[in-house]
Amino acid sequence: MGTVEAQVRTYYDTAGPAYSQLMGPFWHHGDLESETAGLSPAEAAKALALKQIKAADLQPGGTALDFGSGVGGTTVYMASISGASFVGLSNNEWLSEQARQYCAEQGMSSQVSFLTAGDEDYKTLVAWPTDSLDMVSFFESVCHLPDKASFFRAVFRILKPGARLVGVDWLQRAFGEYQTDEQIAQWMRPVEEVISIPGHGTVDSYREMIEAAGFVVEIAEDLYPGVECWGSTPPDDGQGWGSYDGELSTVIHDGKRVLDAARAAGVFTVGRFVARKPE
Ligand SMILES: C[S@@+](CC[C@H](N)C(=O)[O-])C[C@H]1O[C@@H](n2cnc3c(N)ncnc32)[C@H](O)[C@@H]1O
Repeated sequence: MGTVEAQVRTYYDTAGPAYSQLMGPFWHHGDLESETAGLSPAEAAKALALKQIKAADLQPGGTALDFGSGVGGTTVYMASISGASFVGLSNNEWLSEQARQYCAEQGMSSQVSFLTAGDEDYKTLVAWPTDSLDMVSFFESVCHLPDKASFFRAVFRILKPGARLVGVDWLQRAFGEYQTDEQIAQWMRPVEEVISIPGHGTVDSYREMIEAAGFVVEIAEDLYPGVECWGSTPPDDGQGWGSYDGELSTVIHDGKRVLDAARAAGVFTVGRFVARKPE
């Protein structure tokens, strides 16, 4: 079986090509207002990334790490709108290779590099010196980590005093008739099993872990308060998940099915976080 982290890496060997085909280079949820206004999932994802860059106050010439960069769409976009230099980090070389190609096509290779780290390097991030970065971001990647608290402590070490951690992630919550841990788990456990997620946190559990690492949390919010969270994979399936016939297509079909069920139950949501390392 290997470690949880190794299973996630293997998951992306097959999910990576599927997600790329179905969602293009942007995989995370977007800004709800932009979605409601009818923007595409990619445009809404960019709008949310722009919000995070503004919240981080990242300046031209700054240096940033995007943890869990996938095939690179958001990393390259954040570099282009901020003028900062970025490293996008993954634990899957296929993803990093796709991201490099995309970055070169966008003419951004002098400003962005994509690196593949060992499965457990996220616990220390020793490749980065203490107090060295102007921003660390994550978009729907920390949910895959079994030791999220170590990741937040490592990020705290490598950020400059005054710099920010900004993130967006898959979470769970009580909703409607589903209030107890077991009622929530009946929908979230299948998502965790099929999509290789060791456990979903909540807005509050993330806030607590980020504060415990030493940060001042400026924003910890549910991006879909009081409404079902559809976002990156809308229920009409215009993206074509149901008819995907690539390698391990059953995992992709199952993933969409169990995620749709958790979305429809309302217990799945996405949270947004902004936290500052004190001066
Ligand atoms: C769903 S993808 C997110 C892609 C991208 N942020 C986006 O939204 O388009 C999850 C990312 O987390 C990374 N990841 C998961 N576990 C990791 C680990 N242990 N170390 C480093 N990266 C990891 C994966 O390699 C992948 O790049």
